[in-house]
Amino acid sequence: MERTFTIDDFNTAADVIRARTRHQPTIGLILGSGLSSLADHVEDADVIPYAEIPHFPVSTVEGHPGRLVIGRLAGPTIMVMQGRVHYYEGYSLQQVTFPIRVMQVMGIKLLIITNAAGGVNPTFRAGDLMLIKDHLNLIGMAGLSPLRGPNDPSLGPRFLDMSKTYDRELRQLARDVARELGIELREGVYAGLAGPTFETPADIHFLRVAGADAVGMSTVPEAIVARHGGMRVLGISGISNVAIDDPDAESVASHEEVLEAGKTIAPRLARLIMGVLSRLSDPLG
Ligand code: HPA
Repeated sequence: MERTFTIDDFNTAADVIRARTRHQPTIGLILGSGLSSLADHVEDADVIPYAEIPHFPVSTVEGHPGRLVIGRLAGPTIMVMQGRVHYYEGYSLQQVTFPIRVMQVMGIKLLIITNAAGGVNPTFRAGDLMLIKDHLNLIGMAGLSPLRGPNDPSLGPRFLDMSKTYDRELRQLARDVARELGIELREGVYAGLAGPTFETPADIHFLRVAGADAVGMSTVPEAIVARHGGMRVLGISGISNVAIDDPDAESVASHEEVLEAGKTIAPRLARLIMGVLSRLSDPLG
């Protein structure tokens, strides 16, 4: 069986982080592909490269700088993951979600997950923001789970309810803030696949029938571990491209397109997330 981490490993990493920051974050934020500029808004930032934290996986993909930025953002003290790792990079799902466990043992109670995603819903356009209402765990249906292996009951339950993954109150708060700021916010179901291939047109038709509005290669394992650890989760996708649903179409999907779209999405996403954070006066409640 592949290596499983224990609470000692999470605490070892947490101790290194605590020794390098003045702050005690209560909120976590994961920045997806091309969205890392949001961390530039963090005040009094302490920056820790992932490579300097024991067991932390290091991203190998362009658009994922790979460092923790800890400080204040629009009020609350938060820990920002500037870049994440993905299963397709060769990491196990336990490695992919290691940072979420570290957040858990550090006392983080609320996790905001962002990602770049392909638009599956035919009404979506590149540049749209989508509030994640729910996800389709296709990677899990294929047999992959970050919770596979021995369960430590001090971290969370063996069998986990997933019917309320994306917190209802936080979704309402995101809608309210978007309306106040005049930011258009779509809403839908995120389908999580393993990647690294983009989808075939047949995959896209399958995903539409299954109820997906957006598709990507991250987020689902992180949301699972965050829920297992008792965190409240808010998820927002930046629609970086419209999924190609016709084998005869001229267009192709590319990572360059994803990063390019991130430049137009990141400033709006920053305003939305900072608006949400400014309203989270008591994230522990
Ligand atoms: N498919 C899967 N993942 C993605 C896409 C996509 O079209 N765009 C950004 N991440």
